[in-house]
Amino acid sequence: MKTKVLGRDEMQRKIAVVVGTRPGIVKFGPVIRELDARGADFFVIHTGQHYSENMDRQFFIDLKLREPSYHNPVVREFKTHGGQTAEMIKGVEQALIQERPRVVIVGGDANTNLAGALAARKLAQMTLVHMEAGLRSHDWLMPEEHNRVMIDHISDVLLAPTEAAVQNLKEDNVQGRVVVTGNTIVDAVLMNIEVARPRFAQFAERGIKPKEYFLLTAHREENVDSEATLRRLLNAVDKVAEKWKLPIVFPLHPRTRVRLETFGLWSGISEHKLVSIVDPLSYLDFLAALSNAKLVLTDSGGIQEEACILGVPCVTLRENTERPETVAVGANIIAGTAAETVLPAIETALNRAEQGWKHPFGDGQASRRIVDILLEEVSRND
Ligand code: UD1
Repeated sequence: MKTKVLGRDEMQRKIAVVVGTRPGIVKFGPVIRELDARGADFFVIHTGQHYSENMDRQFFIDLKLREPSYHNPVVREFKTHGGQTAEMIKGVEQALIQERPRVVIVGGDANTNLAGALAARKLAQMTLVHMEAGLRSHDWLMPEEHNRVMIDHISDVLLAPTEAAVQNLKEDNVQGRVVVTGNTIVDAVLMNIEVARPRFAQFAERGIKPKEYFLLTAHREENVDSEATLRRLLNAVDKVAEKWKLPIVFPLHPRTRVRLETFGLWSGISEHKLVSIVDPLSYLDFLAALSNAKLVLTDSGGIQEEACILGVPCVTLRENTERPETVAVGANIIAGTAAETVLPAIETALNRAEQGWKHPFGDGQASRRIVDILLEEVSRND
């Protein structure tokens, strides 16, 4: 490399896929499988953001994905957004310089995706593709919102999952080409739900019955890093248990476990007679737990989508969502973290559940469309 950037003639007809977090692996799963099925020349870069076996490797195994060719093992030591992102940029850049792909795809709003996008953009002529572009919570305190806006503005091709996402991109006046593809989460659910169903046995063994329990997840920084908010959320969970007298299955993100311990809240929740804390679930185990739940309480973005696709009512433990389509179809209620708002939201969501809804995330062919675009971009100007 003669200069700080790569010329178009120095690049290879290859595609780089950047992953690094649990939801990213799930959403890229169908794309990676489709690239493989079509014999595309591509490779996977893992930023190293998620690293625990059950937050990372197990997902590659469950989804039968090829192993990443590059992986940065030191990222786990960085605990600030800036430090973590900077270290991931370095790792992705090294891999991109080594392989010189023409096209780089990142997907979602985690720091991993910002790092991948910046590394590619700084090499100037690589075509940067953002999968899941155009989502907006309009909450400028969320790290994910900064990441979404920044990635969308520096991408060449923006793959929007829905028309609402296209509208956001128009309002933001982004430079890149916008294409509606649907969301690959639908492809992932359809591909895996049948294999996942027998996994419910592990919950049945603990006395959990289909449609007679709530599922709970909470890991988002604004919820679990603030002691007051986490206490409020746990109080709501306690009130929910008291009112419905149903088990609450709670797969625990490592970040949340650390916070519960630090704030002295661990024994209260772990000894609660209706709350069943389990380690983070693999993708198939999680699909089994979600599809059989009576309702899910969550602060995750991807789970709002998955619940909507699977017909499970969702109450979102946040003040806003970047997935307003789920609310519009009646599948999701934004309830915050206080018992006064969460309990009525659950009641409404359960009442609505019988009517059902049609999910807005596409036909399960998003990965096929995305791979069409990647192959078109890699051959551009040949
Ligand atoms: C990140 C994303 C979030 C996404 C989530 C999915 C950002 C800004 N946030 O949040 O949008 O919903 O991933 O899970 O990128 N940890 C482990 N093992 C792991 C991963 C994390 O122990 O494999 C612990 C570590 O203490 C780490 C902390 O969790 O410091 C937070 O992890 P981090 O990757 O910074 O953010 P997430 O909360 O996972």
